[in-house]
Amino acid sequence: METKVIKVSADNICEAVNEAAEEIKKGNVVGIPTETVYGLGANALDTEAVKKIFLAKGRPQDNPLIVHISSFGELFPLVKEVPKEAEMLAEKFWPGPLTMIMPKSDKIPDSVCGGLDTVAVRMPSHPVMREIIRSSGVPIAAPSANISGSPSPTNAHYVYEDMKGKIPLIIDGGESEVGVESTVITLAENPPRLLRPGGITHSELESVLGKVDIDKAVLSQLENGQKASSPGMKYKHYAPETKVVIVKGSLDKYLEFISGKNEKIVSLCFEGEEEKIPFETVTYGKIDDSSSQAHRLFDALREVDRKGADIVYARCPSEEGVGLAVYNRLLRSAAFDVVEVY
Ligand code: TXA
Ligand code: MG
Repeated sequence: METKVIKVSADNICEAVNEAAEEIKKGNVVGIPTETVYGLGANALDTEAVKKIFLAKGRPQDNPLIVHISSFGELFPLVKEVPKEAEMLAEKFWPGPLTMIMPKSDKIPDSVCGGLDTVAVRMPSHPVMREIIRSSGVPIAAPSANISGSPSPTNAHYVYEDMKGKIPLIIDGGESEVGVESTVITLAENPPRLLRPGGITHSELESVLGKVDIDKAVLSQLENGQKASSPGMKYKHYAPETKVVIVKGSLDKYLEFISGKNEKIVSLCFEGEEEKIPFETVTYGKIDDSSSQAHRLFDALREVDRKGADIVYARCPSEEGVGLAVYNRLLRSAAFDVVEVY
């Protein structure tokens, strides 16, 4: 299959949106831009279309998808009932990088939810994505548009790299602004629990809901046989081809640690540190700015593979605020391999 890429501009936005909506109405999968990362979208109410998403990604069937809507009213048919917490959070954070999990209605096919009795719903803020949902007239199921396991794509070029020949159309809506996937919270439990950190922080959630638990799997590896609350958490994720090790400690200690190594090293470091590091470097944002790190991380993880190194030693980000999302993704890309050098 040939994969067409349409770059959206002020002149062609209507045609681009219409073409994407037509493919989705036909039951096909389209690469679509969102403010977090690019998605692989299909009609969430069409079991055959949803199957094509799993096929294109090589995704395990038990890993459920997020359903994307363009207005709050579209939530009602998808869930058993709309909890008051969902209204409060939507008021403050929708449209935006927040996904809420609620008990599902019968309208959602089981294949979307990996057989669970809950559904994850998000209202994205990217204007092109919102128009595509509106024009399709259906809720859109969309996982990140990467091949299962590799870093999520933050631009249309990376979607093309992973999906060429597998889907008919990619809509290029520019670089994703946030750069990591949405925050996922389950409201199907009391207190609500953060399953995946993202652009909306734990403290922002608590400012609306009061106490919000943080799932154990956010910062630690599930042990064999442990059940994942969010099935996506149990799979290897975001990993470049090159092995990644996180080095926790000051820049001086980091420099000491890597200086004795004989391997071909790429240093994944913060902006401005390059000149001190006697190896190839790839930067991911500023040391004191977690949002800039989130924006850069997945791009940087794809970039390190182009350096042909044996190993990546990554500087460790802060875990505060949006930093929790950055650390969560980096930990998975390193398969939880962290060295402390205090
Ligand atoms: O920002 C995002 O959320 C992007 C864009 C495209 O919207 N989408 C995304 O989808 O990241 P995906 O499929 O890559 O990640 C969805 C995560 C997975 O970890 C999945 O296990 C979890 O959400 N999830 C989905 N439905 C769930 C449910 N009913 N219960 C628990 N976890 C769920
Ligand atoms: Mg994903």
